[in-house]
Amino acid sequence: MRKHDFVTVADLSNDQVLELVQRAEAFKHGASIQLKRPVYAINLFFENSTRTHTSFEMAERKLGMQVLNFEAQTSSIQKGETLYDTVKTVSSIGADIAVIRHPKDAYYQPLLQANLPISIANAGDGAGQHPSQCLLDMMTIYEEFHHFAGLKVAIVGDLLHSRVAKSNMMLLKDLGAEVVFGGPDAWYSDEFAAYGPHLSMGEIVDQVDVLMLLRVQHERLNQTDNQSFSQADYHKKYGLTLERATHLQKQAIIMHPAPVNRGVEIASELVECPQSRIFQQMTNGVFTRMAILETLLRAKNLIQPTSNLSAGADKHVINY
Ligand code: CP
Repeated sequence: MRKHDFVTVADLSNDQVLELVQRAEAFKHGASIQLKRPVYAINLFFENSTRTHTSFEMAERKLGMQVLNFEAQTSSIQKGETLYDTVKTVSSIGADIAVIRHPKDAYYQPLLQANLPISIANAGDGAGQHPSQCLLDMMTIYEEFHHFAGLKVAIVGDLLHSRVAKSNMMLLKDLGAEVVFGGPDAWYSDEFAAYGPHLSMGEIVDQVDVLMLLRVQHERLNQTDNQSFSQADYHKKYGLTLERATHLQKQAIIMHPAPVNRGVEIASELVECPQSRIFQQMTNGVFTRMAILETLLRAKNLIQPTSNLSAGADKHVINY
């Protein structure tokens, strides 16, 4: 991976993960940077998004970047322009960073091979990776427990279609956490078995420190699976029901990348319960994305070396 792109967590060392998490915490406590010149970001989303899109845009604006408008539905993609030509176009126009979400797994490979001057930040590729979600999840866990080693983390739900599950299982294992999986058997495969066993909800709820629930991705299920899907059955077998939640350990936290199917993977009443960190994840997403973008800006030598400011006159001094 070029230093000025961010496309997968597979390339990150544990030290780099911790550094990003700690920089995200510093941004949360008011650290800021100053840019050497106007820097332009463009967010190219070819799949729906609320959190990732707005969160990247908030992060870009908080870092002082200019954000160019782009709507896939009104762009020349609708006239058949390729992703490569679109990215080369916005790079030629002068954008410095493209944040991209695209339905194709590893869509970014040809873009990286083309070695365009524009930086690529992956906001989710097909059923591949969701590296910024993964890091915001690590930040949320670290804020809670201040370590990863020895934590038991369950990832439950639509594993097959989840880029969050695939990114998170990698980093969690590298960081020393124990990973287990839950949800329908059909969505568990050898790919996941390499990271942890598949357990029933009864075996999971009273054992874990972190219960990470995943949305059933109806848009990626085939017609037959969608027609035979019962929300009530799923909730009963694999969901966090009100009854199951009573068995969670006192220190356990509930996470979900959202959007949430209330009443399916989690009872609606539990989405905002005291053990839920679901909205805290969204808050942390802004600061995590600031930390990610900062590494790209730094690699492009676009940050003033004197950037050591922090809001609220607190004590974060950042040395580059
Ligand atoms: N968690 C997440 O990626 O949400 P969005 O699809 O709304 O961006």
